[in-house]
Amino acid sequence: MAIEHHDFDVLVLGSGGSGLRAAVAAAEAGAKTGLVCKSLLGKAHTVMAEGGLAASLGNVDPRDNWETHFQDTMFGGKYLNNWRMAELHAKEAPDRARELEHWGAVFDRTPDRKMSQRAFGGHTYKRLVHIGDRTGLEMIRTMQDKAVHSDIDIFMETTITRLIKDGDRVVGCFGYRRASGEQISFSSKALVVATGGSGRIYKITSNSQDCTGDGYALAYEAGAELVDMEFIQFHPTGMVYPPGVAGLLVTEAVRGEGGILRNALGERFMEKYDPKRMELSTRDVVARSIYTEVKEGRGTPHGGAYLDVSHLDSDYVRRKLPSMYDQFLELAGVDITKEPMQVGPTCHYFMGGIKVDPDTGETRVPGLYATGEASGGMNGANRLGGNSLGDLLVFGRRAGIGAAADANKLSAVALPAEELTAAQGEVDTYLNGSGTENPFQMHKDLQKIMGDGAGIFRDKEGLTEAISLLESLESRVDKLKSPSPRLEYNPGWQLCREVKNMLTVSLMIARGALMREESRGGHSRLDFTAYSDYWAENNIVVHSKGGYDMQLTPTPVFKRDELSELVEARKESEKAS
Ligand code: FUM
Repeated sequence: MAIEHHDFDVLVLGSGGSGLRAAVAAAEAGAKTGLVCKSLLGKAHTVMAEGGLAASLGNVDPRDNWETHFQDTMFGGKYLNNWRMAELHAKEAPDRARELEHWGAVFDRTPDRKMSQRAFGGHTYKRLVHIGDRTGLEMIRTMQDKAVHSDIDIFMETTITRLIKDGDRVVGCFGYRRASGEQISFSSKALVVATGGSGRIYKITSNSQDCTGDGYALAYEAGAELVDMEFIQFHPTGMVYPPGVAGLLVTEAVRGEGGILRNALGERFMEKYDPKRMELSTRDVVARSIYTEVKEGRGTPHGGAYLDVSHLDSDYVRRKLPSMYDQFLELAGVDITKEPMQVGPTCHYFMGGIKVDPDTGETRVPGLYATGEASGGMNGANRLGGNSLGDLLVFGRRAGIGAAADANKLSAVALPAEELTAAQGEVDTYLNGSGTENPFQMHKDLQKIMGDGAGIFRDKEGLTEAISLLESLESRVDKLKSPSPRLEYNPGWQLCREVKNMLTVSLMIARGALMREESRGGHSRLDFTAYSDYWAENNIVVHSKGGYDMQLTPTPVFKRDELSELVEARKESEKAS
């Protein structure tokens, strides 16, 4: 089959917030820029960051500043964050929020017409600028608009199955158009992975079908390192029924606006788990608390906790939480201004990801950059709500600038023919090979393994079993074949490669989780329930020894002397309270 080919200075994979922001930055820096997305432009997990974007503007509480935001982020991440990333994020998020406003984002306002800010878990002050409960959606709308006016070539419904290297350098990628099955290749002097997370390795998730860890797996196969993969954020509040929408996000803004959590006995159970912060504790704590209440028999009829805003003024609820109002009324027949919601944890976000230089987004592989949820380090062991939207703006922009500067140094790159032939062979095997494994069944098997052995609570026995079952999938992965031979819009064909990607990611998570013998943030071990001094100082970095054979290396947390005072002050104040 002939391959359609395109040349770019900078190519961005992924059209969520980080991808769009990177593409805009690269184009502004003068790079010929392309953007590829698996689905339609704008259909991204960014829209599931509903409640707001954390930026210390100090509009609602003038005491706020970047130092406190930095401290909150470090506390929320249980001090495993890359300090430089947390610093850059806290310092630059306000400018990025103002910039969005200049590009046309319509934020909610204070009475004196400043961008309004609301409370969220783990943030000391009211810090999240927002648009009702549709913040991510408005950000995507704004950046999409900016991107289509920035001379960026956009390739929608295009699946990338392989990064192409020439020697050590990533020089492009290969894939196919989902609508026609036609093959496509791109050469790029610099390539930015902005493909988000991999929530689809779990059955209950707020993530869309597209979040299958493609960027993690492609970068790993190209030789990049990944960090903190054992830390998974289970957002405390997803819908628990009806079954067809289980996992759908119930924004933290519900609690930010005063929502109260109760168990089936009517007890406000957060009093037991975090009396200081209550419902606005960090997400890891609230998710474990709800899970524990349900497990110990105090759950709601549908296996969750009650989340109640019926004590608030009903007009206020409809104005500040319009999507939640519609979502519950239309999907569950619940009027949230009168009755409580039923909610439970849902896999929402990957703290870990591709290891990057904090300032530029560069990986250890020449020509390869990463940003947003696809990259790791910024959030440590647990992310604060609202920090993802700041993260994708700050580091999306930085990766776009970094990639464009790199591209400017090169005259041209070419895709080696043998690499293209190998890439063609792989996609063809999934369609025409002799394999007998059904990708839909294997995906279900993988979700069950991860849910049973590597979910919210983990232990040695469960993780060892999960790893062994995942390893037994390795041999089956090579026999995957689409149930239909159709070239056009064939989800089974698509899922073959996605299952392979999800298996790679799942192995990283389970192996990292087994190695980390402690509990911290989004990693809770029933057999090691306390923090460990050793693991307080170390991230786990994963890289490939070939195929699914991985090397996991404890690596000192990246610190900065000039920020030590802030970190120590925060640790002291937590001890004192
Ligand atoms: O709950 C939410 O609105 C999600 C926000 C986030 O993940 O940052």
